[in-house]
Amino acid sequence: MTVDATLPEPRGPLSETVTVALAGDPPPAASPEVVRAAEPFGEDLHLALYVCYELHYHGFDRVDPRWEWDPELLRLRRRLEDRFLPALRAVCPGGTDTETALGGLLVEDPDAYGVSHHLLDTGRWWEMREYLAHRSIYHLKEADPHAWVIPRLRGESKAALVAVEFDEFGGGRGERMHAKLFADLLDGAGLDSRYGRYLEHAPAQTLATVNLMSLFGLHRALRGALVGHFAAAEITTPPNADRMARALTRLRAGPECTRFFTEHIEADAVHEQIMRRDVIGDLLAREPELAADVVLGIQATAYLEDRLGAHLLECWRSGRTSLRRPLP
Ligand SMILES: [Fe+2]
Ligand SMILES: [Fe+2]
Repeated sequence: MTVDATLPEPRGPLSETVTVALAGDPPPAASPEVVRAAEPFGEDLHLALYVCYELHYHGFDRVDPRWEWDPELLRLRRRLEDRFLPALRAVCPGGTDTETALGGLLVEDPDAYGVSHHLLDTGRWWEMREYLAHRSIYHLKEADPHAWVIPRLRGESKAALVAVEFDEFGGGRGERMHAKLFADLLDGAGLDSRYGRYLEHAPAQTLATVNLMSLFGLHRALRGALVGHFAAAEITTPPNADRMARALTRLRAGPECTRFFTEHIEADAVHEQIMRRDVIGDLLAREPELAADVVLGIQATAYLEDRLGAHLLECWRSGRTSLRRPLP
């Protein structure tokens, strides 16, 4: 995998603090007032958080890898998380009934009309390419944030989650890793498949969906939320993947483009059942007090995905780019 690991341009005082520090200047001032004033779903906070988290994945060019565990940077990251997580809790209905929360995702609302419906029915090629650029932020590291939860699980829930992850990572074959299938899709669509290439293009709505996974994955205390997120993602994928594969076919994209989605139609129908029955079921049998966090993971995923979808459709309907800068 090739990587475009250029530090992004700041989008406000928080992301400026983080990127200036990583570029080699003095340790970041944690600036609690600036953090408190930041929009919890806004561009500045989410880019700052994304850059902090990226140090745990591939990092950035010319950035000392020891920043990953720098106490001052972690202090700032904590403050950013303390804005994001309570804001998420505030927009989610909450509760402890995981079956009802998942059940709401199992049956698609027949009146719902999301991004994949639009792309299938009337989407144009430039809109499809923008969608792929947004999704590249996650899919080029697909399943990585979920791997962090493995040591925090035990017994059946651990074994079952690893079985799902094994599929995500290609069942032992590098060319079948889902991240690689997505890179092939980008190449087939004439986009740049280098990891991180579209970070500058991605708005807060996109970064927040990825920051959610990093937040849940990196915190043992949020292991229930990570598992809830994972289950929600697997449940909602098959019908969307089916529409995306057909949308790409309608737009005359080749099989190297559709494969990522066709692979997910059947795989995620199986993953969804494993996540619900074996992972969540066993986790809550062991730790029933985590039910509220599982529900949070499910609801927060739906909230941020809906928010991203609304942004894409609103931009496209008014004929403008959904990215922070148009694709070349
Ligand atoms: Fe996948
Ligand atoms: Fe999956």
